[in-house]
Amino acid sequence: MAKLKLGVLISGRGTNLQALIDACADEAYPAEIAIVISNVADVKGLERAREAGIRSLVINHREFESRESFDEAVASALNTHEVGLICLAGFMRLLTRNFVERWRDRIINIHPSLLPSFKGLNVHERVLDAGVRITGATVHFIRAEMDEGPIICQGAMAVSAEDTPETLANRVLEIEHQLYPLAVRLIAEGKVRVAGETVPYVDIGDPGGPLINPRT
Ligand code: GRF
Repeated sequence: MAKLKLGVLISGRGTNLQALIDACADEAYPAEIAIVISNVADVKGLERAREAGIRSLVINHREFESRESFDEAVASALNTHEVGLICLAGFMRLLTRNFVERWRDRIINIHPSLLPSFKGLNVHERVLDAGVRITGATVHFIRAEMDEGPIICQGAMAVSAEDTPETLANRVLEIEHQLYPLAVRLIAEGKVRVAGETVPYVDIGDPGGPLINPRT
């Protein structure tokens, strides 16, 4: 069967990109990375793509007059590489409503909290300030509003009394690296469908590790 072609959008170090690269290295994995696009030059994520022999390009948002024209350039690159699913992996730009609607339910994002709690930036500081006992990561289809959209799967972990924003970030990141390839696999296998603003549950068995009940 033809593999699902991914376009991975990054702005930085790209550890989630790396998790996808590693997953795609397995012959049996049902997706492949067609193109990596960064809006920032010289970031570690681009080096990871190069090392893996994956095509990458920089589309610097500063060189565009408007959000629309930047998004247009991104869309054109994605179309050239026949991308079927866009994976935002630490991509620090909001996409225009027009772009999001054009790719509706074909753009996913990973966020380091249990959405819909703790949208936005500085998540781990806010998790500690709020005193919540459980945190984690979420993969979701995106909507035009930041960190909104149907949830595909989540992974959870306990917050301990010793945690700092840094230790939380590191432990949540370990979950992210399992969760993102899982979500992409489920989508590529046709197990994920959006109904309204949620993804209905399909039993995929025990995903193992900290990945609790991927609601797919
Ligand atoms: C991750 O924590 C992800 O959840 C968030 O941005 C961070 C990106 O990290 N959206 P990396 O570039 O994948 O290492």
